[in-house]
Amino acid sequence: MPFPEYRPRRLRRTESLRRMIRETRLTADAFIYPVFVRAGKEPRPIPSMPGQSQITVDGAVKVAEECARAGVPAMILFGVPDDDKKDAVGSYAWNDEGLVQRAARAIKKAVPDVTVMLDACFDEYTSHGHCGVVVDGDVDNDATLENLGRVALSQARSGCDVIAPSGMMDGGVGFIRDTLDEEGFDHVAILAYSAKYASCFYGPFREAAGTASGFGHRKSYQMDPANGHEAIREVTLDVEEGADMIMIKPALAYLDVIARVRDEIDLPVAAYNVSGEYAMLKAAAERGWIDHDRAVLETLTAIRRAGADLILTYHALEAARLLAAGKTL
Ligand code: PBG
Repeated sequence: MPFPEYRPRRLRRTESLRRMIRETRLTADAFIYPVFVRAGKEPRPIPSMPGQSQITVDGAVKVAEECARAGVPAMILFGVPDDDKKDAVGSYAWNDEGLVQRAARAIKKAVPDVTVMLDACFDEYTSHGHCGVVVDGDVDNDATLENLGRVALSQARSGCDVIAPSGMMDGGVGFIRDTLDEEGFDHVAILAYSAKYASCFYGPFREAAGTASGFGHRKSYQMDPANGHEAIREVTLDVEEGADMIMIKPALAYLDVIARVRDEIDLPVAAYNVSGEYAMLKAAAERGWIDHDRAVLETLTAIRRAGADLILTYHALEAARLLAAGKTL
């Protein structure tokens, strides 16, 4: 009696067979490289994110050139201003001579093919580190929207291709879309941080960007990690408000959310493989507990398999180089 009739192992026997039936293909086309732009002349390494530094405006152009060479199509820029630029509302965020505005202009001039995305938020620019105007100890939604419009216009004037509001303000996407359209920037796209969770995995980013909140937490605007249905509601609102692409953040503890959103929504879906996820992988690899290169490729492949079209990842450059060298899972 032959048993069993169907043997899945038949198609796993050789690398060429495995290659033929592989369902998910990881390519650099999916990658968006997040970088931190600081004031001053020297880059500054970020201890909790091995391999990453706060770079200068000039350095951002060099990184854009590296992206172009490695086949990474896009960067997203975060500003790390000196403390004397910070105030209660984060007004440096809409300064046309701000760090990310200058970096965006310089990159679009030197390497126009690299897509430049700017994170539209306030936590890097407020003295208290919260993502907007604080009234009575909490971020005031509608007062923050007014300022978000100013940020979006300033960023659009810098020539960036995509604006990515990350503050989780209600109505933020619609407000930005209307503001951009009224001012002649209907060609600038919006990548909405639609389902952004109040996660502990942003820890290294807050060190990197100097945004550790002076008081409280972000649970009144970022989502509760326990909620999945609510992510669909958040994403649906952003789609209705005019988002061009939507994002789930973080990625690894939220692969189920990525998969559900993928099923419901026909816009491009992005996932943010955040600083804490990067730090965990690097720390374990440094100790020799996991194989670094395989862990990078397996992680990014899993995020794609879950349904993300695009991945914001600090591994972008190294992963693109691994793939170009023919490294597989
Ligand atoms: C908020 C913002 C955060 C990240 C990017 N933009 C999170 C936060 O501090 O609430 C996190 C990115 C990361 O951890 O890699 N403007």
